Parts: sequence; structure tokens; C-alpha cells
Amino acid sequence: MIGERRRLRGVVAPPAVVPLTPDDVPRLRLDRPSGEIAVVEQVAAYPGRAVWAPATLEYVVLAPWRHRPEIAHLAEISTGRHAAALVAEAIGRCRAAGDALVLLIEMDERRSTGFHARAGLAPLEQIVTYELDLRQVPAAPTTRLRFERADPARRDHLEALLRLDHSSFPWLWRNSAAEFSAYARLLGVRLLLGFDGAVPVAYVGVTSFAGWGHLDRIAVDPVRQGAGFGQEALAQAVQTLAGLGARRVGLSTQDDNGRSRRLYERFGFRRLPDNDYALFAASLRAPAPLPLPLPLPLLLPSPKRSN
Ligand SMILES: CC(C)(COP(=O)(O)OP(=O)(O)OC[C@H]1O[C@@H](n2cnc3c(N)ncnc32)[C@H](O)[C@@H]1OP(=O)(O)O)[C@@H](O)C(=O)NCCC(=O)NCCS
Repeated sequence: MIGERRRLRGVVAPPAVVPLTPDDVPRLRLDRPSGEIAVVEQVAAYPGRAVWAPATLEYVVLAPWRHRPEIAHLAEISTGRHAAALVAEAIGRCRAAGDALVLLIEMDERRSTGFHARAGLAPLEQIVTYELDLRQVPAAPTTRLRFERADPARRDHLEALLRLDHSSFPWLWRNSAAEFSAYARLLGVRLLLGFDGAVPVAYVGVTSFAGWGHLDRIAVDPVRQGAGFGQEALAQAVQTLAGLGARRVGLSTQDDNGRSRRLYERFGFRRLPDNDYALFAASLRAPAPLPLPLPLPLLLPSPKRSN
């Protein structure tokens, strides 16, 4: 009996976890430089998901992932011993909000498998990174495709970008129209559409930084893949960045995306394992297709000329 009482006295009850509202944010001890205003905005813009423990000041803040409100990104998890319990609570709130997926990206952090299991997260994808030294590998000239700078504010460009993107990328990685617009406005970003005749068959997105560049996106229409257009699009992306002063180009892709990895490696990209990172997720419901702005054109053969 005495032993039982001691054990009970030694048990620390978990702190109460409650919804985090914008009004609560000034009470948190934030550990990021962007600070209070940014967190207030984040909590207000994506309501009903963030949580905190008033007794310990631990908190979890979520944000839509890459302008995809149905994918909740665990943007901030405060350090503390109840972090997994807080994440589990936040995941429950995302489920109630109707989200499809809750995503955790571990770049610098390396949380334990025990943490992920307690939080309700499972490994989703491993991301591998590559780099190309432009001083050693000259970019090959493009041949068949004609590349044009793409502007998502133009309806025809946005439709082409979305159609190529949604038909080639898996659901998780698809860009919404809002993501394309926000991305194209970022400093140093160039979006290019590759045309075969008048038909857009590929697109690339790159960002130019001081002395280096990043390949953010590359996609080829699935029915035109395996004909060398990917290599042409990659060469165009690298040339564009080289023209903007890049001496090296970085990129990342999914570990199991063999097709893209072979393309990059054939081109001369080398692995940078130190920059690899992992995605964990809680899958909450079956994903729905992303909306397209215009009805898809009918995929009928063009009528034969009679003369
Ligand atoms: C990755 C991706 C851009 C490659 O595009 P692609 O047009 O198929 O690329 P290529 O045609 O240049 O090369 C692909 C294959 O076709 C082969 N190929 C190239 N030219 C060819 C030709 N004329 N005839 C037959 N095969 C050819 C290549 O050898 C290569 O074979 P491999 O995969 O066995 O190595 C495309 O698969 C894609 O859009 N994937 C979805 C989006 C994505 O995953 N993007 C990258 C992630 S960040």
C-alpha cells in the first residue's frame, strides 16, 4: 500500500492543452526571430488548429502548407517534454477542421521515433538533395522546345502550369493556383514554360540567389515523358541560372523518385547527403483533387484537312 501511494505521488499529471488564440500569443515565450506579430497572424489566418499548455507555455502553431489549406503544416513546435501530446491534440483539431493531412518537416531537428509514434505521425517521404558545380559541367543547349517566361497572372499560362503540374506531380506536391502566384512574386524566381510547337509540354521554376541558384520545380507532361524533354527543361533551367550569375545549382527530390534522380545524375548533379531531410504525416482523410481554373480542353485529335 505504501509503495502504491509513493508511486501515485510521483506521477506528474500532463498539463491541460487548450486552443491557442491570437490573444494568447503575447503570453508565449517564442523562440523564433519573426516573433509575436507573425505568430498572431498565423494563428488568426489558420484558425482552430494551434494549441498551447498555459501551465508550461508549450505551444504548437500550424500553417497551410504551400498555399494548400487542406494540408496543415506543423510550422512550430516549442521545445518541452509534452511536445508530442500537444502535437497529438493539434492533429485532432485539424481532423475536426476537415484537413486531409498534417505534415511535419524535419530539416535540422531529429526527433525520436517514440516522439512521432506518441504524436500520431508516421514517416511519409525522405527528401534527397543534389548540387551541380557549373564550373565543371557546361549546360547543354536546348534544341526542340521553345521556352517562354511564364506569368501565372496570365490565364493561359496559369492553366498550362496547373495542367502540367497536376498531371505530373503526386497529390502532395501539386501546386495550387495561389502557390504559383505567390511563388512567381518571390524575388529571384523565374517560371518558364517549354513549348513543343504551340503546345506547352514542360515547365521549370528556378530561384536565383547571390552566386548560386535553386531548381524548385521541373515537370513534363506525362504523355510526353521519356523523349528527352526533361533533359531539355533541366538544361534550360541551369542555363537560366548560369545567366543570372550562378556558379552552382542546388535541388531536392523524393528519395523514391527514380526518374528525376536518374535525370539529375546523368546531367552531372552530385548528392549532398548532409542537406537531406524527412517528412512525417498524419493522414486524416482521402485527398480530393485540386481545383483547376478552367475546364480542361477536350483531348481529341485535331480534324484532318480535306485538301
Ligand atoms: C522527372 C521528369 C521531369 C523527367 O522528364 P522526362 O521528359 O521523362 O525526361 P527525359 O525524357 O529527358 O528522361 C527520362 C527517360 O527517358 C529516356 N529518354 C530520353 N530521351 C529519350 C528518347 N529520345 N527516346 C526514348 N527515351 C528517351 C531517358 O534516358 C530517361 O530514361 P531513364 O528514366 O531510364 O533514365 C518527369 O518524369 C516528370 O515530370 N516527373 C514528375 C514531376 C517530378 O517528379 N519532378 C521532379 C521532382 S522535383
